[in-house]
Amino acid sequence: MENNPYEIRRRTVAENLAARRLDGMLVWLSPNLRYLSGFTGSNGALLVTAEDAILITDSRYTIQAAQQTTCRVRIASGATVLEAAAAIARLRLRRIGYEPARMTCDTFQAIDSRLPLKASLVAAGGWIEELRMVKSPAELALIRRSVEVNSRAFEETVARLKPGTRERDLAAELEHRMRRLGAEKPSFDTIVAGGAHSALPHAEPGAARLERGLVVVDMGAMVDGYASDMTRMLHVGAPGTKAKRMYRAVLEAQLAAIDAVRPGARTAAVDAAARRVLKAHGLDKAFTHSTGHGLGLEIHEPPRLGRKDNLRLKEGMAVTIEPGAYVEGFGGIRIEDTVVVTAGGCEILTPTSKELRVIG
Ligand code: GLY
Ligand code: MN
Repeated sequence: MENNPYEIRRRTVAENLAARRLDGMLVWLSPNLRYLSGFTGSNGALLVTAEDAILITDSRYTIQAAQQTTCRVRIASGATVLEAAAAIARLRLRRIGYEPARMTCDTFQAIDSRLPLKASLVAAGGWIEELRMVKSPAELALIRRSVEVNSRAFEETVARLKPGTRERDLAAELEHRMRRLGAEKPSFDTIVAGGAHSALPHAEPGAARLERGLVVVDMGAMVDGYASDMTRMLHVGAPGTKAKRMYRAVLEAQLAAIDAVRPGARTAAVDAAARRVLKAHGLDKAFTHSTGHGLGLEIHEPPRLGRKDNLRLKEGMAVTIEPGAYVEGFGGIRIEDTVVVTAGGCEILTPTSKELRVIG
């Protein structure tokens, strides 16, 4: 039991309650709930106090919760929120931390209105996410597997790709293959966009056929709860000078940003490294999003690597590096790897080669 990672994480939370002047922490967000308990059900709340942790869920999860967690489990007879409020009252907790992100006003009010007079909910958002930023070796092993499954699905699919395939058929094939290779699902809706459509950084694959021009493929797998994320570029037919030039600029920016990743580096400095290169190529205004993001139990989690993000990177953080350039009416280029911060810099986990692949 001593080595149960969930118990160790819960202890960290319990030991830091006093410093936050809290008597308890109500964890509501499912990735945080999973991080602290191992429970993967769609409905649950974890109440962590200095001495105890209670997982509250509903009767659909009676067997599953007992299998997945060593916490005390309480099956709510009605709404989970009501059971959480009752537990807070029973334990006579006064200041209870909660996670405002993604909690509806309804849910907040349902709990708040049922608390004893002297009890109050105190916003403690981002606390568990902060704990999640540095990954354990076991978590990194899962991210590595997720990256490998994702890259294999990409290779196997692209090897058979023919010009004229519809964007949505290629996306479906990529997702089908990642599942066949062991992913439980994609880590986000796969992006496949051809020609001018690729100028939309988050394009939705449609019925359009991939004809002559750029194709962006942005995909990730979820393996044992952990995400991967990769973007690679294809070109149907031989690329012209403009596409080749843009591709080289984005690749140079991506390599410069990767080079800037090391423990102690500020996230904004990694972003600036990519931006500097794109500016030198006259493409700074075409780079319209941030350079990357953390990933783990969620596809997007802290730290963010954008212009204004001043967090210092630490060994064990897993982040994406994904600069891009987007030109309306022509197309867009993005190159994205999943990397892990190591003592000496970073390791690129994504094994997929970064050439602009010609199809047909
Ligand atoms: N790869 C999708 C995203 O990072 O938003
Ligand atoms: Mn990404």
